[in-house]
Amino acid sequence: MHSSNNHGEAKAPRHLAIIMDGNGRWAKKRGMIRLMGHRRGAQAVTRAVETAVAKGVQTLTLFAFSSENWRRPQDEVSGLMDLFAKVLKSERDRLHDNGIKVQFIGDLSKFSSRLNEAIDELVSLTCNNQRMVLNIAINYGGRWELMQAAKSLAIDLKNGKISEQDITEEAMQERLCVAQDVDLLIRTGGECRISNFLLFQCAYSEFYVTDTLWPDFDEKEFDKALNYFNGRERRFGMTSEQVAAKA
Ligand code: FPP
Repeated sequence: MHSSNNHGEAKAPRHLAIIMDGNGRWAKKRGMIRLMGHRRGAQAVTRAVETAVAKGVQTLTLFAFSSENWRRPQDEVSGLMDLFAKVLKSERDRLHDNGIKVQFIGDLSKFSSRLNEAIDELVSLTCNNQRMVLNIAINYGGRWELMQAAKSLAIDLKNGKISEQDITEEAMQERLCVAQDVDLLIRTGGECRISNFLLFQCAYSEFYVTDTLWPDFDEKEFDKALNYFNGRERRFGMTSEQVAAKA
């Protein structure tokens, strides 16, 4: 189920998803405002994207802003929006030169036209790249995604495009923002929660939770997560013997 990296050594998950938590605590520990933590978090994003490409990850999905994050203080929310717009512009060429196809998942309608323009530009610039897909989840919620898929099925059923028998797990999956199952989910910041992230896609994924705060997540930490993943036996409901026989 794994793909090899360029050197054929360590196995990388095909789809890696990350809940980047702990920016606020990182800043607080240093007596800084929370936004400083997010800035350092953005640097950790750049690092993680580069490492993921080098390791041979096919798809990287990052949770950058949840639908619940709007509840944060206004200055933090607007600071995050400015940071997103800035990073998308400053990282544009590097992402493109590295062959990364950038996509955004979530309800983008709530964001400013300035941010939406930066998003559209990056998406169309990189749409033919094939080395790695980078999904950035903003204003995303797993229940919202499932509701959207259910709505789309209901509309097609009502219009006679599909019948009841066509409502299968596969049909549901095709209508999600990201169809690919997650192989490994990493969460930094120590909380052991899924926080409404990729609920359908994480049905069989491995979970790796680390106390490391997101701004401190470097290549060494990345390797620790991959080593954990490589040590897991993924049975998908089968017995150990069946897995061994299939290998
Ligand atoms: C969670 O830490 C982090 C966020 C809600 C924001 C994530 C944003 C970035 C990493 C910056 C830029 C990202 C991109 C894709 C350009 P927290 O604030 O909940 O930390 P805490 O739990 O310590 O308070």
